[in-house]
Amino acid sequence: MDGRKVHVKNRKREEMEVQQILHMNGGTGETSYAKNSIHEREAIIKAKHIVEGAILDLYCSVFPESLGIADLGCSSGPNTLLVISEIIDAISLQCCKLNRSWPEFRVFLNDLPGNDFNTIFRSLPGFYEKLKKAKGIDFGPCFILGVPGSFYGRLFPSKSLHFVHSSYSLHWLSQVPQGLEDEMGISLNEGNMYLVKTTPPLVFKAYLEQFQRDFSLFLKLRSEEIIKGGRMVLTLNGRRSEDPSSTECCSIWELMSQALNDMISQGAIEKAKLDSFNLPYYTPSVKELKAVIETEGSFTLQKLDIIEMNWDGNDNDDNKTIIFDKFTSGRTVANSIRAVAESMLATHFGEAVIDDLFLRYEKNVVEHLAKEKTKHINLVISLIKRE
Ligand SMILES: C[S@@+](CC[C@H](N)C(=O)[O-])C[C@H]1O[C@@H](n2cnc3c(N)ncnc32)[C@H](O)[C@@H]1O
Repeated sequence: MDGRKVHVKNRKREEMEVQQILHMNGGTGETSYAKNSIHEREAIIKAKHIVEGAILDLYCSVFPESLGIADLGCSSGPNTLLVISEIIDAISLQCCKLNRSWPEFRVFLNDLPGNDFNTIFRSLPGFYEKLKKAKGIDFGPCFILGVPGSFYGRLFPSKSLHFVHSSYSLHWLSQVPQGLEDEMGISLNEGNMYLVKTTPPLVFKAYLEQFQRDFSLFLKLRSEEIIKGGRMVLTLNGRRSEDPSSTECCSIWELMSQALNDMISQGAIEKAKLDSFNLPYYTPSVKELKAVIETEGSFTLQKLDIIEMNWDGNDNDDNKTIIFDKFTSGRTVANSIRAVAESMLATHFGEAVIDDLFLRYEKNVVEHLAKEKTKHINLVISLIKRE
């Protein structure tokens, strides 16, 4: 087999691995995403005005009888139907104002196949019941369907969607970038699972290029599925700084690498395990994000907002010097990262180390918050489909 074929084959294998392994913690138990996604919920609430603006613009310019909406990377839990409720509320209010009858709603909830779709499906009868009570018996109809698969592949028939939404999902890459090791197979980013100040330039380049490929492909695929003039609102972790190792995007993972390094020094984990673990994740700067949209060319960027949020979704205080309660916040942040990253960490390092790892991580977060209240930077973009 020639070198290129091997490269393509490896790439496909790594892509499959992320798709098969990554999932938020399912169910409704203590470590579930459903119970630990307050931070992501706050992001949805903060971006609500942008979603409403885009869907109403679209609705009032097309007045479709059947409205196709997709939420990509929907996960499971209270957030899953939150955006869908906001969209339905905005449209139904507009229909009342304009004295028009409701459109039919076709709602597609997408996530990777490992997502806990069963919990979503079980919540649907209650959701439909609530809609009927709030809007009246004539409302809709509203059809909600689950669509398992990667949003880095085609998911929907051509020109079948009017509106696409995605929150807190597009910073996940389709795969770990290639080229993070030297010719001897030694990690170029030793001792770290993500970018840090000392990461070599080749590694930064590999991450940026993977993001550019993935996001460009995402835009191309959605442009085939969305009608002309259709809209997308996407919220993803990003950064203000041009430095891809800035604290605003990297500290949260550096504290995890520190916890893993502690465990290595005590013999609980092998060093080689950490060196072979790289997060399939990237937080673009505004400039990097805009450049992909412009180069790919299928969508016009109508709006870009930056939303800053405390790591602890319960802490709404913008004052950087006021720490909510570092111990409570440390626990909340550790639980929320566990709900998101446990599937990948447990697959790579083993289930047995997870409780210990997250206790150490929580301690690191508490110590970090005592010194500095770092904020997550979220980029919210509203896009319009061109020709
Ligand atoms: C942090 S959760 C966000 C869930 C929800 N949108 C929210 O705001 O609470 C990120 C979700 O993106 C999903 N995801 C990541 N990569 C994906 C991909 N390539 N295709 C579909 N879903 C993906 C994950 O499985 C996960 O459920």
